[in-house]
Amino acid sequence: MLPTDLEGMFEMDSNPNVHKYLGRNPVKTKEDSRKIIESIRQQYVEKGIGRWVMEDKKTGKFIGWTGFKINEEPLNGQVNLLDIGYRMLESEWGKGYATESSFACMDYLCERGDHPIIYGAAVVGNDASIKILHEKLGMRYVDSFFWDDDECYFYEITREEWLERRKKQ
Ligand SMILES: CC(C)(COP(=O)(O)OP(=O)(O)OC[C@H]1O[C@@H](n2cnc3c(N)ncnc32)[C@H](O)[C@@H]1OP(=O)(O)O)[C@@H](O)C(=O)NCCC(=O)NCCS
Repeated sequence: MLPTDLEGMFEMDSNPNVHKYLGRNPVKTKEDSRKIIESIRQQYVEKGIGRWVMEDKKTGKFIGWTGFKINEEPLNGQVNLLDIGYRMLESEWGKGYATESSFACMDYLCERGDHPIIYGAAVVGNDASIKILHEKLGMRYVDSFFWDDDECYFYEITREEWLERRKKQ
């Protein structure tokens, strides 16, 4: 994630459809997006990880972000959990990119080996995301929790489980 990702980040995060299952609070200004980029870049420095940008390999065009975050804010009641997530421009949905990128991210993280367990959460109704977490990545359903008014499903997978799963594919 670079400061030059501002246009793409703003186009994505100002779209109410993108935020339908993300608390329905899209960003209003480019300054909001600039602060988000800054905060992600700060996480690289402070936590050694943060969401990464997805680009079209042929054109270099911004598609969205993917990868991991260590959450300072509680996730299902616990702080400092590492979760996998993805968010893309609406024009890029339905092309398999979130699945492709999340596999690449899981392979990288699990081979790197410094995080023994990976979590995932999705608002009930966000069927594409739930399918990726549960069916594609094989994450185990743990329980559900409320994020403000929205019920979320909560998933987990260990590093060993992921590496084992990949051996069989
Ligand atoms: C969630 C999101 C990242 C999915 O990205 P994507 O690249 O379109 O997902 P994929 O193309 O990899 O699709 C994954 C699976 O879900 C299915 N799927 C896609 N959209 C779907 C929908 N609206 N309803 C049900 N299934 C859907 C796909 O068909 C695919 O399954 P298949 O391979 O068996 O056909 C994208 O919709 C997005 O950016 N949404 C807004 C942000 C968001 O909600 N992020 C997730 C927060 S938890």
